[in-house]
Amino acid sequence: MGRDFTFQCQGKCSHTHARAGVWMTPHGPVETPIFMPVGTLATVKTVTPAQLEATGAQMILANTYHLHLQPGEDIVAAAGGLHRFMVWDGPILTDSGGFQVFSLSELRTITEKGVTFRSPRDGRKIEITPERSIQIQNKLGADVIMAFDECPPYPASREAVELATARTYRWLERCMEAHSRSDQALFGIVQGGVYIDLRLQAVEALTQLDLPGYAIGGVSVGEPGETISEIVRATAPKLPVEKPRYLMGVGTYREMAQAIASGVDLFDCVIPTRWARHGAVMVQGERWNIKNAQFREDFTPLDETCSCYTCQNFSRAYLNHLWKSGEILVYTLLSIHNLTELIRFTKQIRESILSDRFTTDFAHWLEPMP
Ligand code: GUN
Ligand code: ZN
Repeated sequence: MGRDFTFQCQGKCSHTHARAGVWMTPHGPVETPIFMPVGTLATVKTVTPAQLEATGAQMILANTYHLHLQPGEDIVAAAGGLHRFMVWDGPILTDSGGFQVFSLSELRTITEKGVTFRSPRDGRKIEITPERSIQIQNKLGADVIMAFDECPPYPASREAVELATARTYRWLERCMEAHSRSDQALFGIVQGGVYIDLRLQAVEALTQLDLPGYAIGGVSVGEPGETISEIVRATAPKLPVEKPRYLMGVGTYREMAQAIASGVDLFDCVIPTRWARHGAVMVQGERWNIKNAQFREDFTPLDETCSCYTCQNFSRAYLNHLWKSGEILVYTLLSIHNLTELIRFTKQIRESILSDRFTTDFAHWLEPMP
């Protein structure tokens, strides 16, 4: 496994922990830092794999929880694995399901053994344990699989977070024991909520395990943006420098820029595709809505500095027209733009790190929220 997942640092910022790297996976290299689009059900919603590749996406995500419910991991395995099933030949990461059980299903119960819940599809009782999550992820066949963790809610008492963090560690040991594929890298997840000392204890324990990569979880669950940056500032620099670092569920400009300054390499977030389905577009660091009447006769592209298929071909007026007509092509065109924009942002940061201009070129995003 070691050789398949090497992380090579190509450049470092001289003022922060930011680094630009190349991370090898069995399905090709990932140039970091980078934003990874979310393809929950083995599809990045409304976008074909060819369109996705053209956004600059290198690695994408899928979800164990959703794919277990539909179509089931056996179907994906019978298709030849996730890459072949969804026709994405680049690197893929699957999340372990724990986080999705907590956020999406009702009637869940959590014990030391694992989590049981009722399927939102047919009410059937389902149990996911650390072993089961790994077995499902082994069958799905992504390049990177995530440990089954317990993400405490926000706010939560110190005692509750302490218990969840300790359990997450015990579950990680069980995940490592269950993991049976040497061509998949198992990442550990640092929990600890807003309690910095618990975070540091988790980092200390996890780094002893010499995993191929580390994630910071349990952020962006309702706490203020400043708190996220604080957690990441305390945690990320203490994770092994020679391994990739992944901040889960984060994908705003400011949070990504600040996390990169703390040494984070990988991000994912549903924002670009979810916003697109609400008519919201990211333009020059702002959120606009294409439904707005101001775009009715605006024949300029969404962003004239954007090289995406949407901006190269269509006007704001046309996109506004599609939205008002309920034409579903608009979801695809807006998703293509938003994904391209967020990936471009991380790629621009990468370039700025390589030329050691990160803190000057991105000073605006490195400041606390105004
Ligand atoms: N996605 C966003 N946050 C988390 C987390 O804490 N754990 C997992 N497994 N997935 C996440
Ligand atoms: Zn664009």
